Amino acid sequence: MTTQTPATDSNKDRVYIFDTTLRDGEQSPGATMTLEEKLQVAEILDDMGVDIIEAGFPIASVGDFESVVAVAKRAKRSVIAGLARAIPADIDRAGEAVRFARRGRIHTFVSTSPIHLAHQMRKTQDEVIEIITKTVTQARNLIDDVEWSGMDATRTPLDFLARCVEAAIKAGATTINLPDTVGYAIPEEYTAMFRHIIDTVPNADKAIFSTHCHNDLGLAVANSLAGVIGGARQIECTINGLGERAGNAALEEVVMALRTRADAMPYHTEIESTHLARASKIVSAASNFPVQYNKAIVGKNAFAHESGIHQDGMLKNAQTYEIMTPESVGIKETTLVMGKHSGRAAFKDKLRELGYDLGDNAFQEAFVRFKDLADRKKHVYDADIVALVDDEAGSI
Ligand code: KIV
Ligand code: ZN
Repeated sequence: MTTQTPATDSNKDRVYIFDTTLRDGEQSPGATMTLEEKLQVAEILDDMGVDIIEAGFPIASVGDFESVVAVAKRAKRSVIAGLARAIPADIDRAGEAVRFARRGRIHTFVSTSPIHLAHQMRKTQDEVIEIITKTVTQARNLIDDVEWSGMDATRTPLDFLARCVEAAIKAGATTINLPDTVGYAIPEEYTAMFRHIIDTVPNADKAIFSTHCHNDLGLAVANSLAGVIGGARQIECTINGLGERAGNAALEEVVMALRTRADAMPYHTEIESTHLARASKIVSAASNFPVQYNKAIVGKNAFAHESGIHQDGMLKNAQTYEIMTPESVGIKETTLVMGKHSGRAAFKDKLRELGYDLGDNAFQEAFVRFKDLADRKKHVYDADIVALVDDEAGSI
């Protein structure tokens, strides 16, 4: 059974979300998860409508195999993928693991760039084409849903990449992934690569094209969106951008960029974005990787404002300084953090929230004391403000 609709159908603006937190994410040094943790992560991904969950690399260890099987058995909606090198034993093992899923996928890959061919694989280009034909055919004999990836695609000459893609489609690959394995591409190049391959390879319309971007230059999300502009309709990504080295494209960022800027990029995903904050917390706890405060979408400060000008604007109309609502990503509310940058409007609002209604003079005096305290203290808590107002009232 094929699980995705080729981009030529009426559904051509739908972007499929392929989450690899449990495979590429878990490969980041120190991020190993237990089976229980992986099941928790898979559950929220399935609930939020992730189209494909890459649950692991079944040949890597017995534990990895068992966790792919366990996720495959539990998933209610998502396709479950297992990774396999271009090696017959890998492909059989991945097939064995994903057959427990309602819908399973074998994801097989081989390197295509000159540097990988010369130093890692020690194979000629013709040998690589032969490997692609054999391994994709083997996978297709096990399952209808087969993804082929050309590792290091962005450092591969386009004419050879086109030959590889043609061989993979001919052998039955239903998804073609062109990864920026080392995070080297810039957006314009990534767009052009997809355009060229999709325009020149025979039967390109028989497959869904996919992005897979690493963040070594901080461009993983920008490149993923650029790939979609070039014709890709699947984005491979991870929660919190967890992944090898500087990580992978962050799922929450690509989803919210596509949603918030639908005016500029007319594509859509089926992700229920209100699950994003919770997913971020679950993955952070499972991987033991804290989320940076200023992380887009899910960081502690993503919907927090301290500057007086911004707080004043927010109190008048939230759209002055927020381009999406905190509720849309599952965060309860915007926070106006009280600190030395806060102005009178935010201080008055905070006093009202704490139940105080001070007259003009008392308010001015309290505001001066608050500014003095904020200059000395990094965090001004509600209790500090209560103490500051009550102490003064007691001293009158
Ligand atoms: O970065 C990469 O190229 C990969 C492949 C296995 C798809 O993770
Ligand atoms: Zn990767």
